[in-house]
Amino acid sequence: MPEPALKTLEVRKPPGKEPEILLLRLFVPETDLEPLARMLSVAEERLAGLRKTIIKGYRRFPWGFFVVSDRQGRLVANLQVGFFKPWWLVMAMGRQPLVLPALVSRILAGLGLLDKFHVANIYLEQDYRGSGLADLLMDFAESLARESWHRKKITLLVSADNLTALKLYRRRGYLETGIFRKDRIEKLEMTRSLD
Ligand SMILES: CC(C)(COP(=O)(O)OP(=O)(O)OC[C@H]1O[C@@H](n2cnc3c(N)ncnc32)[C@H](O)[C@@H]1OP(=O)(O)O)[C@@H](O)C(=O)NCCC(=O)NCCS
Repeated sequence: MPEPALKTLEVRKPPGKEPEILLLRLFVPETDLEPLARMLSVAEERLAGLRKTIIKGYRRFPWGFFVVSDRQGRLVANLQVGFFKPWWLVMAMGRQPLVLPALVSRILAGLGLLDKFHVANIYLEQDYRGSGLADLLMDFAESLARESWHRKKITLLVSADNLTALKLYRRRGYLETGIFRKDRIEKLEMTRSLD
């Protein structure tokens, strides 16, 4: 199994603006998930909720999972990308080992049965917000969609009251293409053309 791709990123954390070198890893369906499992198991207790979100998200979007850590191996950011799957497929694959949803989703996508390609679960630890890291991660996600999956557009869902995220996406050229309401929460679908 190939090792997860590793890149170094330099970011400047506000307000001190000290440069810091971070490590970016990309997990794709063929990647050995052991290093990811190790990284999540050493994540601090306060990240327990995040760990759950990550595993859940990976089941849903097993096409590209970017993980950023500091030099001590602490998780500082993550972002996932993948084809949006219908609810019945998510349910059917819910309790299977991670590799199975990845395989089934790949086959369905290969047959053209899955269409929308999403960015999901972008999350930065508080200290790293405002550092430019969110833009770097979005750049990688969009390149992966364009180059590895030949997508011409990319979509995402964002809560209508998440002003920081909305500003980030609008600045990057995402336009509102839909609106959904669930449990009184309003979510916007936003789309960016990758041409
Ligand atoms: C959303 C997130 C990834 C954005 O990363 P970030 O580093 O904070 O993004 P940026 O520094 O590019 O900030 C985006 C914009 O919001 C503004 N902003 C920052 N904090 C803000 C706040 N509390 N209220 C309103 N705007 C805010 C910034 O000034 C910037 O505006 P600009 O584009 O005019 O310069 C990060 O805040 C995060 O991880 N949030 C928690 C998880 C989350 O909400 N994910 C999104 C799910 S859709």
